[in-house]
Amino acid sequence: MTTRFIKFPWRGFAGSLLLAACGTIHGMAQDGADAAAKPALQKRPLRSAAERTTWVATLRDSYARPPIAWPAPHVDEGVRWQEIGRLPAVPHPAANPHNQPKEALGKSLFFDPRLSGSGHIACASCHDPDLGWADGRTVSFGHLRKPLARNAPTIRNIAFQPSLFWDGRSASVEEQAEAVLLNPTEMHVTPEQVVAALTAIAEYRALFAAAFADDEITFRRTAEALACFQRTVVGGHSRFDRFMTDRRDALSDDELIGLDLFRREARCMNCHHGPMFSDGGFHNLGLSYYSRQYEDRGRFVVTQEVADMGRFRTPTLRDVTRTTPLMHNGLFELSGVLNMYNAGMPTLRRQDYQHDDPLFPVKSPHLRPLGLNRQDLADLAAFLGTLEEPRHRVRPPLLPAAP
Ligand code: HEC
Ligand code: HEC
Repeated sequence: MTTRFIKFPWRGFAGSLLLAACGTIHGMAQDGADAAAKPALQKRPLRSAAERTTWVATLRDSYARPPIAWPAPHVDEGVRWQEIGRLPAVPHPAANPHNQPKEALGKSLFFDPRLSGSGHIACASCHDPDLGWADGRTVSFGHLRKPLARNAPTIRNIAFQPSLFWDGRSASVEEQAEAVLLNPTEMHVTPEQVVAALTAIAEYRALFAAAFADDEITFRRTAEALACFQRTVVGGHSRFDRFMTDRRDALSDDELIGLDLFRREARCMNCHHGPMFSDGGFHNLGLSYYSRQYEDRGRFVVTQEVADMGRFRTPTLRDVTRTTPLMHNGLFELSGVLNMYNAGMPTLRRQDYQHDDPLFPVKSPHLRPLGLNRQDLADLAAFLGTLEEPRHRVRPPLLPAAP
């Protein structure tokens, strides 16, 4: 690796092991001298072709059954897991019921840069349907093209998220939309500016009248329409979904082995479970860069609870192969992420001056070295690829004409 602008936040044996394992981390410096250190855990032996064939037959048999009869997942005691599966119907809240005109209005607003203070940034600038409703960047460019602190997540399936943002600081999609608009580093606009800009456009007045009881344009209604549209951006047509719809042949042998690894030996179901492949909870994976240049305290900033230091919300894994780069800081590719999980994730070492620091972040106890071999890692990656939605060209709407 040649890029040199970020130092990895951990040192010593575990760090060197990880650095040796992660060939695909963006911009990470390898600063351990003992990079060739041996892995702490013996890797599982590779399977021969014949052994794989026998194993696949066993798995086809197990997974042909209804999920309730599948092999039990490997989760730690106390984890309240839910089986992976198909998405339920979208829950539109009673306070913001869905109707077609509101969805259409929300879509128009989502693509309209006139919602931003600069007049140049739309929601779709950073949540682009052609890029899996994310932006394909490490971190997004915000107002006046200033880089933001975090990676833009997809907005697909956010209807099913119990909280929004990497740190869960918004409790509803409506609240989230208001927060992004007002954020000076993102849309950089005031409620009054939004209302004035939209009221000046005759077609928006008509669209609001169709979507709501009357033609009053308010900041809240703008957020409601945006939320209503975003809740219609849902997946559910991946090959995994077909597999779950009694099409058990929809997964290849590699992918099926990967599914089983995901549920068992790789221990992913400790946090990524249910139809969203997320527990909606917050965990510390050792990526907080605590007291380093790229520090992100995550959930702690929201709750001020010591236990939340460096915790981030478990992201969905649906469509994850479309939204690289990954993690809250956008510093990783999928193969690097899998290598890190296999090594048990980085363990931050306390510096001398940090021995009594009560805020020092603690890594999740669910993470530990997995001992997966390269076949396993490839199978796991193949399974994650089955969560990808088929490509549908989303036509940006024709925006209402300027006044
Ligand atoms: C400049 C880029 C940018 C723009 C413009 C932008 N977003 Fe985002 N969006 C982000 C980033 C970055 C995050 C993650 C921030 C965080 O977690 O702290 C995010 C998070 C979100 C989330 C939460 C997703 C999740 O999984 O929790 C939603 C929903 C969302 N944005 C919707 C919108 C809407 C609606 C607009 C327009 C009003 C918008 N965004 C405009 C970059 C942007
Ligand atoms: C302890 C809970 C936990 C376990 C176990 C876990 N994850 Fe995660 N996963 C998370 C959290 C939390 C994040 C986000 C962390 C961050 O950004 O700092 C994440 C992020 C990811 C991402 C990046 C997603 C994105 O959109 O950026 C992938 C891919 C992923 N996990 C796959 C897996 C796989 C595969 C396994 C099993 C080998 C696994 N995870 C095990 C909690 C967990």
